[in-house]
Amino acid sequence: MPLSRRSTLTQFLIEERRRFPAASGDFNALILDVALACKAIARSVAFGALGDMLGNHGGGDSVNVQGETQKKLDVISNDMFIRANEWGGHLAGMASEEMEQPYPIPPEYPRGKYLLVFDPLDGSSNIDVNVSVGSIFSVLRAPQAVVDEDRALTVDDFLQPGTQQVAAGYALYGPTTMLMLTVGSGVHGFTLDPNLGEFKLTHPHIRIPDDTHEFAINASNSRFWEAPVKRYVDECLAGKTGPRGKDFNMRWIASMVAEAHRILMRGGVFLYPRDTKDTSKPGRLRLLYEANPVGMLMEQAGGRASTGREPMLGVQPTELHQRIGLVFGSKREVERIERYHAEPQTFKGDSNPLFAERSLFRD
Ligand code: AHG
Ligand code: MN
Ligand code: MN
Repeated sequence: MPLSRRSTLTQFLIEERRRFPAASGDFNALILDVALACKAIARSVAFGALGDMLGNHGGGDSVNVQGETQKKLDVISNDMFIRANEWGGHLAGMASEEMEQPYPIPPEYPRGKYLLVFDPLDGSSNIDVNVSVGSIFSVLRAPQAVVDEDRALTVDDFLQPGTQQVAAGYALYGPTTMLMLTVGSGVHGFTLDPNLGEFKLTHPHIRIPDDTHEFAINASNSRFWEAPVKRYVDECLAGKTGPRGKDFNMRWIASMVAEAHRILMRGGVFLYPRDTKDTSKPGRLRLLYEANPVGMLMEQAGGRASTGREPMLGVQPTELHQRIGLVFGSKREVERIERYHAEPQTFKGDSNPLFAERSLFRD
C-alpha cells in the first residue's frame, strides 16, 4: 500500500517543534509515549471477551478512590499509561483516576519537567456493552523545585488551574481509534492507521460551530437539577413552540469522551451539572483529568467550557480527585447557560422540570 501524504503524529509534532527552536524535544517524546499507551489500550479494548478483557476487576470487589467499581480494563489501561510513560525521563510524576495518590517516577528512571494526569478509560460502564470508550490526558509543568532540587512530589504540585495545561487530549476507541490533541495551537485530530499502527493527521484545525440544536444531559437526574439547568433543558424541549424557536435533538452516550468528540466534530452542548443528588459530590465528573483537558480542547477549538458559573479553566483545584459541574460545547449555547446561572433566580423550578413554571405543561 503506498504511503499517503498525510502527516503522522510524529511528523506533526516535529513540525510544531520547528516553530520553537529552543524546545528540548522532551515534550514531543512525552506525547508519543502517551500515544503508544493509547495504541496499546486500543488493542486491548478491541479484543474484548476474546482477550478476557470484559467485566470487573477482582471479581467486582475492587473499587477506586471514587468508590466506583473498577473494570478489568480500567486497571489494565492505568498500567499501560504508567508503563509507557514512567521510563522516558520526561515526567516528574503522574496522577490518575484509578490511583488515590500521585505516582512518583521510580528512582531507577530519570525525572523530567512535566506532570501527566489522566483518566485511563472514560466511560468504562460502556465496556461490557461494546460502546465507545476513551482515554483522557492533561500535561502540566512540574514546579521548579521538583525538577531542579529533586524535591519529593506532592499532591499540591498537581493542583493547577486548567489554564496552566501545556497540552491536553484524548484517544477515542470507537469504530476507528482517534487521537485528538491540543498543544495550545488549535485542536488536531489523528486517526490510527491499522496497517501502519501510526496516528495520521486527518482532522487539522478543528472548529466547533458557535450554535447548535443538539444537547446531551442525563435526564434521569432532572429532579436534582438546579433551576438554571431546568430552565435551559425545558426551553430546549419546548423546541419551536418555546422561547428558543427551534427544535433540539438529545444525545446521551454515557462516555463523556465520546460526547466531547461528537461536539468537536459537529457542535452541541454537554452538561453534567452540579446537582442535589448527592450533596457530598459537587458534580459527577472530575476536574483535573476530565473537565480540564476537555475544557482546553473545547476552548482551543473555539468552543467553551464552564462550571455554569465560571470558566472551567480558571478554577483553582483543591483536591486531586475533585468533582465539578461541567458544561461544554458550542460557545453561544454555553454562554447562554452561564447567563441563566448569573441571572437572579426568578425561575423557581419544580421537582419535575416538565411541570415547572416555564415548562412544557404550563401556560
Ligand atoms: P468513568 O468511566 O471514567 O468513571 O467516567 C464516566 C463518566 C462519563 O464518561 C460519563 O459522561 C458519565 O460518567 C456517565 O454518567 P451516567 O452514569 O450518569 O450516565
Ligand atoms: Mn471518566
Ligand atoms: Mn475512567
